[in-house]
Amino acid sequence: MLNLDYNLNSMRKKIVAGNWKMNKTAEEAVALVKELSSILATEFKGDSTILVCVPFPYLTTMKELVKDTSISVGAQNCSQFDWGAYTGETSAPMLASIKIDHVILGHSERRQYFGEDGKTIAAKVDAALKYGITPLFCCGEQLEVREAGKHFDLVRQQVAEGLFHLNAESIQKVVIAYEPVWAIGTGKTASAAQAQEMHALIRQQLAGQYGKAVADAIKILYGGSVKADNAAELFSCADVDGGLVGGASLKAREFAEIVKAAR
Ligand code: 13P
Repeated sequence: MLNLDYNLNSMRKKIVAGNWKMNKTAEEAVALVKELSSILATEFKGDSTILVCVPFPYLTTMKELVKDTSISVGAQNCSQFDWGAYTGETSAPMLASIKIDHVILGHSERRQYFGEDGKTIAAKVDAALKYGITPLFCCGEQLEVREAGKHFDLVRQQVAEGLFHLNAESIQKVVIAYEPVWAIGTGKTASAAQAQEMHALIRQQLAGQYGKAVADAIKILYGGSVKADNAAELFSCADVDGGLVGGASLKAREFAEIVKAAR
């Protein structure tokens, strides 16, 4: 019998994105990307989008370095403002001017340590889209929220606050990343069933707002202790369209194995 879920899942090209966070010197960054691209050049046969989201100072060098490879380079944040007196900020038009086409927005570390709220993140999503940059919009609950049984409500609220001001055309330019905070950097991965359950809920919520066809076109990545040995199982879930990988993206071999697990 035709398995419709599988077919829909396979229609959405997977994305495996590394989030380096605030790690690596310039020299180490070059070495990592060189090693990764040489492994992938011989071993990667798929058509997933492979992304490394690197610290701002390395964007231009990394872009140059991956020029003739299967790897793309993304940023980890951008301002909600275009230009002006915002010391220390980097804007979407700046990223666009160096041809960066992906940016992580609303990561739980930005929400937790830098006070980013739903409204700010929504404005950042708009800024990125205005300049043709794909936002990787992050959502996810803390452990105490899950333990209180409020995880579905919280994630629904984050998705609505951050994205539901967009029209049906714009929302399809966004990639969503579900990253349960309790699984980030802890070695505690969500089970495939937990990931699938939340991804299906997000897709259902998108369908309620924009209709099924739009919801089926949107990619939803899982993030939180994705490793070489759990990636294949997570990525095989019907509504999991790839991963946003922190710690394991800092090692070329490990990240390459995760990339290869996405098909
Ligand atoms: P880890 O893979 O280190 O758990 O980090 C996940 C993450 O925060 C990616 O954005």
